[in-house]
Amino acid sequence: MAIDYTERIPNNVELASNRTLQRALEHWQPAFLNWWKELGPSDFQAADVYLRTAISVDPKGWAHYDYVKMPEYRWGIFLAEPETDRRVGFGDELGKPVWQQVPGEHRSTLRRLIVTQGDTEPASVEQQRLLGHTAPSLYDLRNLFQVNVEEGRHLWAMVYLLHAYFGRDGREEAEELLARHSGDADNPRILSTFNEPIRDWLSFFMFTFFTDRDGKFQLKSLAESSFDPLARTCRFMLTEEAHHMFVGDTGIARVVRRTLEVIDEIGTDDPEAVRRAGAIDLPTIQRYLNFWFSSSLDLFGADASSNAASYFANGIKGRPDEKKYGDHVAAGTFDLEIPDGDAGTRIETIAMRNAMNEVVRNAYVDDCMKGLTHWNRILEAAGHAYRFTLPSTRFRRGVGSWANVPTDPAGNRIPQEQYDAQIASWLPSGDDRAFIGSLMQRVTEPGKMAAWIAPPDKGIKDRPVSYEYVRLA
Ligand SMILES: [Fe+2]
Ligand SMILES: [Fe+2]
Repeated sequence: MAIDYTERIPNNVELASNRTLQRALEHWQPAFLNWWKELGPSDFQAADVYLRTAISVDPKGWAHYDYVKMPEYRWGIFLAEPETDRRVGFGDELGKPVWQQVPGEHRSTLRRLIVTQGDTEPASVEQQRLLGHTAPSLYDLRNLFQVNVEEGRHLWAMVYLLHAYFGRDGREEAEELLARHSGDADNPRILSTFNEPIRDWLSFFMFTFFTDRDGKFQLKSLAESSFDPLARTCRFMLTEEAHHMFVGDTGIARVVRRTLEVIDEIGTDDPEAVRRAGAIDLPTIQRYLNFWFSSSLDLFGADASSNAASYFANGIKGRPDEKKYGDHVAAGTFDLEIPDGDAGTRIETIAMRNAMNEVVRNAYVDDCMKGLTHWNRILEAAGHAYRFTLPSTRFRRGVGSWANVPTDPAGNRIPQEQYDAQIASWLPSGDDRAFIGSLMQRVTEPGKMAAWIAPPDKGIKDRPVSYEYVRLA
C-alpha cells in the first residue's frame, strides 16, 4: 500500500478515519519537533541530507532517497502488512487468534514494554547529538543522520501504539518519552546504556554495532507478540534497523583497515607509534568493544527471570524467530552457569521459560560474533597476528547472577582487588578517550576521509563514495 505524503502524519493505519486519534497525534507532533530541534542533531537542521524515507511497507521498494532538511523529514506511522488469520505463536495461548486490542489483564505489562522500547529511540538521538561536528566524512555524516531520523520514527511507532491502544495513560507516557533525557541527573532515560555519553565516532560505531543489535533482538522478540499491532510495528522497524548495524559493522571494519595500513607504513604495531601516526591502535579498539558489549548485555535483563517467563507464557514477548524452534511452549529446562559462594561456578537448572532472557542474550552473542569474525578476517588477510575477542557474558555485568562478580574479560573469577587494579586496562581509559577525542576532526570535502578511517567499499544507493551526501548550509 502506498503512503500518502500529503497528510500531516504519513501513515498506513488509516489515521484519517479516527479523528480523535489523529488529533491526539497532531497535538503530540509539535512537541516532538521541539524536542528534535532542541535535542536532535546539533546545528545541522538547515543542511540538505541525502536520506531514505519509508514510502511503503513493501519489502521490495519501501524506501525513497532524496535530499531532505531533517526537520522536514516525514516521520510516519507504518505497520507491516497484516498476516491473514495470524495465531498466537507460543506460550499457553498457542494457536488462538492474536489480539487486535490490548487484553485488560496484559495492559500494564504491554504498556511498560512499549514505553521501555520507545524510550531507547529518542535516547540514542540525544546521545549522538554532537557527533555531526566531528564526522570523518560526508558519507558518515549522512549515515549518522539517517540513523537519527529513523530512531525518531521508531519513537513515533511506539507513540502511535500508546495513543491508539492505551487511552489517557498512553498519552501521558508519550509525553514522558519527550521529558526524560539521556544522562539527565533528575530525569534520565530508563536503561543505563542509553545514558552513556557517545562523544566520539569509535563509540558511535560500537553503539550501532552492539547496542542497536540489542534493539534488533528486542524488536524480533516483540515482532512475535500476540498483540498484533505491536508485532506489525516491530516487523517494519526491523527493516530500518538493519542499516544501523551495517553502519557499526562497516564503521569498525574501516577503522581496522586504516590502522593496518598505518601499521604497514610505519612497520610496527606498537600502540604509541600507531597513535603518533594518527590511527587507532588495535588494543584501544578492543577496549571500546569490551565496554559497549558488556554494557549492552545488561539490556537483556536477568538470566533467571519470572517476568520473562510470564511474558512468554502469556504470549506477550516471544523468542527471536520463534518459528525456528521445534517447541513453542518451551516446556524444558535450561542449565544456567552461575557463580557459587566460593570462587567458582555451578550449574543451576531452571525452567526454560524463566531462562528466556538468557536464550535471547545467547542468540545476540552469536550474532555479535559475526562482526568479530568479519573484523578478524581483515586482520588475518593482512597477515596480522592480532585478534579481537568478545568478552565473556560474565564480564562487568550489572544485571543478573553475574552482577558485580569480579571476573577477567575471559570470564574467570578473580579477587576483587585484582579486578579493581586491572579494570582500567580492559576498558577505555581517560587517556584513550582523550586520544580518540583528539582524532575527531570534521571532514567536509566530498569523498575525503579523516586519517583514522578507511573509505567505505561503496556509497549509498549506488551513489559514489565521493557523492555530496550532505549539502552543508
Ligand atoms: Fe530504533
Ligand atoms: Fe537503531
